[in-house]
Amino acid sequence: MESILKNAIKNNRNWVELGQVASYIPELAKGNRDALGACIFDTDCNIVLAGDYETRFTIQSVCKVITLICALIDNGKENVFLKVGMEPSADPFNSLAKLETRESHKPLNPFINAGAIVSTSLVSGDNGIEKFNRIHSMIKKMTDNDDIDVDYSVYRSEKLTGNTNRAIAYYLKGANIIERNVEDILDTYFKICSIEVTVKDVAKMASVIANNGIAPWSNEQIIPEEVNRITKSIMTTCGLYDSSGEFCVNVGTPAKSGVGGCIMSVVPNRMGIAVIGPSLDQHGNSIAGTKVLEELSRELKLSIF
Ligand code: DON
Repeated sequence: MESILKNAIKNNRNWVELGQVASYIPELAKGNRDALGACIFDTDCNIVLAGDYETRFTIQSVCKVITLICALIDNGKENVFLKVGMEPSADPFNSLAKLETRESHKPLNPFINAGAIVSTSLVSGDNGIEKFNRIHSMIKKMTDNDDIDVDYSVYRSEKLTGNTNRAIAYYLKGANIIERNVEDILDTYFKICSIEVTVKDVAKMASVIANNGIAPWSNEQIIPEEVNRITKSIMTTCGLYDSSGEFCVNVGTPAKSGVGGCIMSVVPNRMGIAVIGPSLDQHGNSIAGTKVLEELSRELKLSIF
């Protein structure tokens, strides 16, 4: 497995030149366009690291998976999907377009920004700090890493420039989809997107989901089985925004991307994989990271289809 992962990094490094680091959040523009690293953590706790695996990056939209898990545990499936849909969207991740045209005003799914803001609003906690702590502790548990913290310069940058997310959240408040203080919900959303991790952390989170919600290192059931099943389904259909279909065909695993350049991939009953490559394609997904996952899927026969 080690040589397959190392080769996948080596063979796909050149792709970084065809993409660009996200710059709509000024702090993200400081990401290293040339970095490419990966980690596999399997359900027997074997770990393989390759390339620039020590790169530290912010989790960004990959956190939407953990927010959905917390929202489902805290509210139950029916209550969550009363406020957010479960259908893929063919629009960019930050689009507002469908909110107004859909009769219910419900965001299409929990992985576009609008849907993630709804799941954030549903996580238990009376204020932003309590909601943040709830999601933060789940991330610490799923990575088995108590040192996980926020990159405060990215957080301040997100908060300063997050006007599209503000527009989305206030629209949702106006449509009675979200309740309580909008600024509190947005603050939690910006802060969890700014949590700093490495590929090892993300691969371990993915391994828990791959292992039916059970942490492979402790055998603790961290995520209830039904919540875990729903999460994998939404990752499969909506994890890479408007290129989820292409990813399904070429890789074929439940996955989630983020504009920090990470892609988390779950291979049910086998392993969690994380790649980091801050150079992004036009959809906001890691360009070389996607190619690495395509090669791994071919070499290790990872597609679930
Ligand atoms: O909402 C935002 O703009 C970011 N903090 C997260 C977006 C993101 O990662 C989208 N992913 N591809």
